[in-house]
Amino acid sequence: MQQIKNIVEIQDFALESRRAGKTIALVPTMGYLHDGHLMLMKKAREKADLVIVSIFVNPIQFGPNEDLDRYPQDLEGDLAKCRAVGVDVVFTPTNEDLYPDLFQTSVDVKEISKGLCGAGRPGHFQGVTTVVSKLFNLTLPNIAFFGEKDFQQLAVIRRMVIDLNFPIEIIGVPIVRENDGLAMSSRNANLPDRERKEAANIYQALSQAKSLYEQGNRESDQLCRAVLNQLEEKFESPYQVEYIKLYDAFNLTEINGLITTPAVMLIAVHLSGTRLIDNLQL
Ligand code: PAJ
Repeated sequence: MQQIKNIVEIQDFALESRRAGKTIALVPTMGYLHDGHLMLMKKAREKADLVIVSIFVNPIQFGPNEDLDRYPQDLEGDLAKCRAVGVDVVFTPTNEDLYPDLFQTSVDVKEISKGLCGAGRPGHFQGVTTVVSKLFNLTLPNIAFFGEKDFQQLAVIRRMVIDLNFPIEIIGVPIVRENDGLAMSSRNANLPDRERKEAANIYQALSQAKSLYEQGNRESDQLCRAVLNQLEEKFESPYQVEYIKLYDAFNLTEINGLITTPAVMLIAVHLSGTRLIDNLQL
């Protein structure tokens, strides 16, 4: 396994590999890798000749009061994990190379970036789509892997790839969870013990609402209310729900009222300064 930091070098590597007829899979990450990330890499390993993983904590997708400064990092550990799942190249660009002084271009997927996480984190998805476009141009993948954990991000990337004609197949990978159901996330490392235990309530509450749906309840308000009630009952630590919503799983528009299409429940909760997101398809 190679580690490449230089942007010219990675692009040369990708160009030569593509010219030689090799297929490339890209897994973009911000590091502090866990089994969710590793699942993306394993899927990538099955599908392409070369697997490139990028590790870059992208400053432009963090707002001024967000956790950029305390985003966890462990490059040595990450490299060992990548090696263990058979990654070929880990791309670790620098901030200065990706965003030189005169940098001034951005990619903006307008509509579906607005609600949910986009409402609470203005500019976030523009930061994501801009960096992912750059990573696509630097690593020239045939296929790229993204997790359903970030359901809106996946939809935004799919839209961008269609709208900008990137010749790349986007593959979504189901959420990998801890034993107690909490969606794996690099940010879970920032939770104190008590909050970490209670965080499992988020998935439990979504699952309970899903069983109401399966018993025939099709009212979005009632399902969201059931999630809120369950959290209220179970949480002892202070928490704050940023949103709990039902969306059409395909076109990512909000469902208010009767659910008649495949739907997804999406939630964002703040717990001791850590923002957790999760979702469950109905
Ligand atoms: P990051 O949060 O590091 O996540 C990298 C990829 O791993 C994303 O596609 C995310 O959806 C996926 N992922 C994270 N936790 C997962 C889980 N529990 N199960 C399945 N997949 C999971 O998302 C980003 O980084 C950044 O926004 C990025 C796309 C790299 C752009 O900077």
